[in-house]
Amino acid sequence: MIGRLNHVAIAVPDLGAASKLYSDTLGAKVSQPLAQPDHGVTVVFVELPNTKIELLHPLGEGSTIAKFLTKNPSGGIHHVCYEVENIIEARDHLRAKGATVLGDGEPKIGAHGKPVLFLSPKDFVGTLVEIEQV
Ligand code: CO
Repeated sequence: MIGRLNHVAIAVPDLGAASKLYSDTLGAKVSQPLAQPDHGVTVVFVELPNTKIELLHPLGEGSTIAKFLTKNPSGGIHHVCYEVENIIEARDHLRAKGATVLGDGEPKIGAHGKPVLFLSPKDFVGTLVEIEQV
């Protein structure tokens, strides 16, 4: 059912330092920081030949990334995002298989302007999974 890996999201305590790490040390192409108030994050996109890395930093009150960084002060992998062709069919399939879809189960418009859902890490070997309709 799942298709390509769309991105890996990494929560970072210092966006400038993380950006420099990816551009200078790893030699990747990185974007300018982009504020996404609806998602409570500022994002730097790292473009790789086969996928993307998203460096996430908390923005505003009650950001889920802030909570994550409290538990993981030096940062860490926050979620992985897999592409699906039809998010409603994917959701129904996942539920039928016993997976927990987070929130109210209705797709939200994600960071790329496309419908997304998140799946509980409890059902996916400790990893928060995002699915995105492409
Ligand atoms: Co994501």
